[in-house]
Amino acid sequence: VSRIIPVDTFDLVIFGGTGDLARRKILPGLFRRYRSGQMPEAARIIGVARSDMAADDFRQQIGQALEEFVEEGKRSANDIAGFLAHLDYVRVDAKGTDGWGELKGKLRDEAVRAFYFSVAPGLFGDIARGLHKHGLAHDETRIVVEKPFGHDLESAKELNAGLAKYFDEHQVYRIDHYLGKETVQNLMAVRFGNILFEPLWNAQFIDHVQITVAETVGVGGRGSYYDKSGAMRDMIQNHLMQLLCLIAMEPPSKFDPDAVRDEKLKVIRALEPVAKNDVVRGQYVGNDAVADYIDDVENPDSATESFIALKLHLANWRWAGTPFYVRTGKRLRARMSEIVIRFKETPHSIFGADSGSKANELAIRLQPNEGMDLRVTIKEPGPGGMRLVDVPLDMTFAEALGPEASEVPDAYERLIMDVIRGNQTLFMRGDEVEAAWAWADPVIAAWEDNNDKPRAYDAGSSGPEDSLALLHRDGRRWREIK
Ligand code: BG6
Repeated sequence: VSRIIPVDTFDLVIFGGTGDLARRKILPGLFRRYRSGQMPEAARIIGVARSDMAADDFRQQIGQALEEFVEEGKRSANDIAGFLAHLDYVRVDAKGTDGWGELKGKLRDEAVRAFYFSVAPGLFGDIARGLHKHGLAHDETRIVVEKPFGHDLESAKELNAGLAKYFDEHQVYRIDHYLGKETVQNLMAVRFGNILFEPLWNAQFIDHVQITVAETVGVGGRGSYYDKSGAMRDMIQNHLMQLLCLIAMEPPSKFDPDAVRDEKLKVIRALEPVAKNDVVRGQYVGNDAVADYIDDVENPDSATESFIALKLHLANWRWAGTPFYVRTGKRLRARMSEIVIRFKETPHSIFGADSGSKANELAIRLQPNEGMDLRVTIKEPGPGGMRLVDVPLDMTFAEALGPEASEVPDAYERLIMDVIRGNQTLFMRGDEVEAAWAWADPVIAAWEDNNDKPRAYDAGSSGPEDSLALLHRDGRRWREIK
């Protein structure tokens, strides 16, 4: 089923090679690609960190991580041993001079060279400088950086400038892992691969759009990071913004990095400032089973939001008058990411106002149970006259495509292989990130200046009542989180 795109031999260096992201996502992702046969025989993955460690100890650590984070049945001892043979380790002092020479000695001129900065953003500039100063980077060297890409516009500009001193934009791969999700890429396939939707895809025919990314997890364990960020910085500025872009953008002329990113940038720039009463922030309150937010982050006075809902407007021809409601939060009722396109009612009902006719609705489920559901109106079967009902034209990808095709690759594995292939389409360009901060900063400043406190909501609920009212007052309602 899977068609493997061959990649060139590579040297991938992971700064922060023993860190959480490397153990959870990056190395398990690479392992899956190894198993699928995509990893060239001579490919090398070099872990880099501060501690002194033998390469064998690093391999052993990663072996354990694979057992923990790769599903059983998808990792044989043989495969793990084969994969670990690609791994090496070098101790490098990112801020100092130690280790750079040794690392350089391991890199091959003929291999694609990529450096993954899986470290705190505070180190991005140091590593970029180190790579340059010690002669490890050449014109085609790629660097991969992770969110949080800045805390606001100013810090994002600084990060971009720190990288731009040594690397050209075409070498910089900024990860937003939502773009690596198979179902998120599918948004583009659905929009631009069917004639059915695009003619209706505008304010004339779409009443409103809903984007929900609901999580059941809390913030325990990452409290110190999260409490300084909140849902706006952690999720809206990046992941939900990217989803919004893919739904709202004009058709790019081709599926090529700059064509796509130019269109996304225009969407972000078209966002109107957000009115104060179009923002609802919430903070979860625990119960017998789970802690309160303030205990999770160990900050009794925290005014950080673990939930946010916003009503957004795009000031352009396509979308004027059609609101986009977006919401995301922790400790909600269910894990569910979904995009809902609510179409307008038919202009006139020939069956009478009380026939039961409903507006069409297209729901695209990103996770879990990836699929699409289009609600269409039909005649209610039976003798009751011309009564209408709406029924789902439901397609769960797993059912439609068969179990093998529905083995959705993890976002990270796709993105890392795109780095090796030199394809930036699914990565954020520097100007996109800055534009997203330029939009988010004043929204955040507005609640900070007013000392606004988030509303309490119960863990396991759908978020604060006011977030439901955000739609009710417009005569609309959210799809249920379930
Ligand atoms: C991360 C956020 O970027 O995305 C986390 O920092 C969040 O707070 C996560 O939980 C959600 O990702 P996913 O892939 O589980 O939807």
